[in-house]
Amino acid sequence: KKVVLAYSGGLDTSVILKWLQETYDCEVITFTADLGQGEELEPARRKAELLGIKPENTFIEDLREDFVRDYVMPMFRANALYEGVYLLGTSIARPLIAKRQIEIAEQTGADAVAHGATGKGNDQVRFELSYYALDPDIRVIAPWREWDLTSRSKLIHFAEQHQIPIAKDKRGEAPFSVDANLLHISAEGKILEDPWEAPDEHVFSRSVAPEEAPDRPTFVEIDFERGDPVAVDGARLSPAALLTRLNELGGANGIGRVDMVEGRFVGMKSRGIYETPGGTIWQAAHRAIESITLDRGALHLKDELMPRYAELIYNGFWFSPEREMLQAAIDHSQAKVNGRVRLKLYKGGIQVVGRQSPDSLYSLEHVTFEDDAVYDQRDAEGFIKLNALRLRLLYRQRQG
Ligand code: ARG
Ligand code: SIN
Repeated sequence: KKVVLAYSGGLDTSVILKWLQETYDCEVITFTADLGQGEELEPARRKAELLGIKPENTFIEDLREDFVRDYVMPMFRANALYEGVYLLGTSIARPLIAKRQIEIAEQTGADAVAHGATGKGNDQVRFELSYYALDPDIRVIAPWREWDLTSRSKLIHFAEQHQIPIAKDKRGEAPFSVDANLLHISAEGKILEDPWEAPDEHVFSRSVAPEEAPDRPTFVEIDFERGDPVAVDGARLSPAALLTRLNELGGANGIGRVDMVEGRFVGMKSRGIYETPGGTIWQAAHRAIESITLDRGALHLKDELMPRYAELIYNGFWFSPEREMLQAAIDHSQAKVNGRVRLKLYKGGIQVVGRQSPDSLYSLEHVTFEDDAVYDQRDAEGFIKLNALRLRLLYRQRQG
């Protein structure tokens, strides 16, 4: 029996590794992906080997470009936001990790996959819906739902007994529940479980506090092609390099911090602190380029579909026909979303200050307050009268 474990090298998945070996007496294959979480991967390899994993059973892959190109970019074409504020940084990474786990299981002849998500959250749903969509007969092991390590304290005790090193945070405390990739970093748990308690500055790692940001604004120009950003300040960059650059600009200007209480798919509400510096700039810029290149009907329909699309990703239905249908419509809408946006970044804020496009629908000769030769203001009279017709009939009905 072989199992492919999504292994971060952190405390939880290291405990799971040991527990799988002890409980299932199975051969564990670890899969560690670089999604831009900003951690070295070699320590994860060494740690896996220290815990008894054969070198040929430790899979380590740099998936940063795949992540941004095939997951983040399609999602940003939709301007996806969950409950008005969450840019879905964790949600969008799960399908990719799950997909690679299933592929590695096939390749190595493993019959099971395992993950370190708890039985209380969204991540278990996202991992497992993706597993089953890609291999309906795969065996899933979710240790958090099976073992008797029912709290973080018990987990830490197990780690101590098994000589599993416990990484402390900067202040020597057990860390928050953190998830990170190139798009975002999240912190949940501990003191943050009180939604009235403001987060300490040490919770944040990717952005300076807005009040500490430079006293002068930073201007940045982003070029889009078919709805995707392709260059920053004139320099063409790969998808992952581009997001990395936007993260630097956003982080330095205190952009992209979110403190929210969200509705988990399993039913309870939870409080999270997220940093998405580059993604926040990206979404503002994308909306700005859409504003001059997308027809109003297309734009408004996209905005109606967006909450539905965001909810599908949040709930773990990336590999579903309805997400793919919405994606096809969204991608189709982006054919002419080309051009350049100029933004001003200042102390946590983003201001769009310019946009231009070879495919612009903006018509100065139509909109100008000066004289024009293309628009007859008298046309508006009939337009308004017919639109008013039903309102006038309704007035009569009310009068009886
Ligand atoms: N609440 C966020 C979400 O559901 C973040 C989850 C973070 N996951 C984690 N394993 N720490 O997308
Ligand atoms: C977890 O439960 O493992 C993290 C939180 C979540 O998935 O919502």
